[in-house]
Parts: sequence; C-alpha cells; structure tokens
Amino acid sequence: MSQQVDPQAIYLGRTDIRIPPLGTGTWAWGDRMFWGYGRNYSQADVEGAFQTSLTSGVNFFDTAEIYGWGRSERLLGQFIVAAGKPVVVATKFMPFPWRLRRKNLIDALRGSLKRLGMERVDLYQVHWPIAPVQIETWMDGMAEAVEAGLTRAVGVSNFSVSQMEQAYSALSRRGLALASNQVGYGLLNRAPERTGLLAACRQMGVTLIAYSPLTQGILTGKYTLENRPPGLRGRRYRSSRLAAIQPLIQLLHHIGEVHDSKTPAQVALNWVICKGAVPIPGAKTARQAQENAGAIGWSLKHDEVAALDEASQLTRW
Ligand SMILES: NC(=O)c1ccc[n+]([C@@H]2O[C@H](COP(=O)([O-])OP(=O)(O)OC[C@H]3O[C@@H](n4cnc5c(N)ncnc54)[C@H](OP(=O)(O)O)[C@@H]3O)[C@@H](O)[C@H]2O)c1
Repeated sequence: MSQQVDPQAIYLGRTDIRIPPLGTGTWAWGDRMFWGYGRNYSQADVEGAFQTSLTSGVNFFDTAEIYGWGRSERLLGQFIVAAGKPVVVATKFMPFPWRLRRKNLIDALRGSLKRLGMERVDLYQVHWPIAPVQIETWMDGMAEAVEAGLTRAVGVSNFSVSQMEQAYSALSRRGLALASNQVGYGLLNRAPERTGLLAACRQMGVTLIAYSPLTQGILTGKYTLENRPPGLRGRRYRSSRLAAIQPLIQLLHHIGEVHDSKTPAQVALNWVICKGAVPIPGAKTARQAQENAGAIGWSLKHDEVAALDEASQLTRW
C-alpha cells in the first residue's frame, strides 16, 4: 500500500524527499547555555512540542550534533521511537578545526545516528563553512555517506552563493544533487535576498531552509520594553531594537486579523513561505508548536507580502 502524501508537502531540493512547507527546529531541546533548558522548560515541554508538531502535520525536524552537546539528537530520537510515525530528520556536521579528514564526517554522522537511534537520516548538512578543510573534501565525505546509506540527501548551512556553488559542483561530480542550504532568513534578516542567495537557490533547485525565522522569538511580538527577552537574548536585543520593531509588529497583527486572527508569528512565518523558503521555527512547548503549525495551509496576498517587505525595510534596528 502506498503511503498517503500530504497535499501540502513539497520536495526537498531535487530529491524525492517530501517535507511540509515548514519544519520544527530543535536547538533549544536540551540546550542550557543559550536557551536555558531545564530552568524554564523541561523534557516534558519539548516532548509536547514534538508530539504537537507531528499531529499538526509538521513531521520535519532539524537538529545538530552540537545542540545541547548531543542532547537534542538524543531527545529527538527518543520521541521518534515512542511516536512510531514517519518523520523527516535533518542533522548537521560541525567541521571543527581539528577535524581534518573526510573520515571525520562519517564518524560524526555515525555518532549522530547512534544518538538518534536511526540507521540513516534524511538530510545531513555541513553546519558552517569553516577553514581549513576544503568544501570539496566534505562533499566527498557526504557522497560516501550517501553511498553507505547513512543519509538520503546532502545539505549545507551558512554557505554563501559561491560556497554553495562549490558544494553543488563537487557533489555533481559524484552524481549527487545538493538538496538545501540552511541560512538565517526572516523579516528582520533579509540578507539572502540582498546577497542573491535566495535567487541562486531557486535557480539551482536547492531548498533554502530558513533558520531563526522569528528572530529568536522577537517577531512573535511578546518581547517589549516591559518584557525583555531572557538570558543572552536580552543583551542581543536591546531596548532600542525592541522599540524600532514595534511598527512592524503592529502590521503583523493587522494583517493577521484579516486572515482569521492569525498571530504575528504565523504571519511572519507565512511571509518566509511566500518567499519560497522553508522556515524551521524553534518550538519549546506544545503551544508554540501548535501556533507555528498554524502558519501553513493558507497564504498571504501579494500586496500583504509587499507591505511587509516595505515595513521590514524601514525597520532600522
Ligand atoms: N544552521 C544554523 O547555523 C542555525 C542557527 C540557528 C538556528 N538553527 C535552526 O533553526 C531553528 C530555529 O531557529 P532559532 O531557534 O534560533 O529561532 P526562532 O525559530 O526564530 O525562535 C525560536 C524561539 O522563539 C520562541 N518561540 C517560537 N515559537 C513561538 C511562538 N509560537 N510563540 C511564542 N514564542 C515562540 C521560543 O523561545 P522563547 O519561548 O524563549 O521566547 C523559541 O525557542 C533552530 O532550532 C535550529 O534548528 C540553525
């Protein structure tokens, strides 16, 4: 019996892997230093985020070996086993400067698979283009990983247009397609449009996976001068920046109202989808996962996307 395909599902790059138009990011699952795991949210909370994502049709999860120093992969693997449902899993290889050979990539992937409790992942990504090892070396390692059946597809992350082209060519020589490039993208970070990366992805058939699409919670509108973001985010998003984004937040509210009371987060995520990218908002709780999943199944109109483009351009923050 063939498996039922969600009508909203899209292809990941030029692979045959189907993903929903939005995924769930899992950096916060187990990360104490930046996100404060174990202080204001727990394993039960992130398990709720996992289950609610799944029941809402969001079965694409992004993790990395470095998130919570392996804890994110372990938790995700544990939840997947308990759920017993098909999921699409993406994880990442960090090219630490002491990792110099392509065997290091295979070993790191085997470590990720062990923590995830899986025989292969769907997408394996090079987390950052870090020197000194050439991009070609890592892509050869990726090709070996595909040939060994350890990953179905290959992606990169934080790669510029030229670095992405290098990765693309190296994989082509091995008869493989580059599936994705995961970069920061959202209403408050439009670099992929300015640098031509978004256009290049479209042209090359590479999915742009958008990380921090809510600017780490800022675009939900919940953080204000009176309610500053906690922890390290408090330093990054100072008062002047929180004040500068208020007109944009107001517009997100206003546009959301005419779409059946969508929230600012849902409108901000739908804007990313309208641009042709796949946002992967991080969710720490079932409530957040539920809200983020409500960003799919409907679409902003052209004039609303244009109004948001303009408001984000005017935001000096
Ligand atoms: N490749 C890379 O280099 C890279 C870098 C960064 C992230 N990523 C990936 O991208 C994912 C998402 O990025 P991100 O976590 O940095 O930022 P994000 O998705 O913009 O923001 C996530 C945070 O916003 C808050 N939030 C999310 N949904 C919410 C909702 N509906 N209502 C209220 N608050 C909500 C939560 O924090 P609070 O509740 O504490 O506010 C959550 O942890 C990560 O999990 C990771 O998988 C990749």
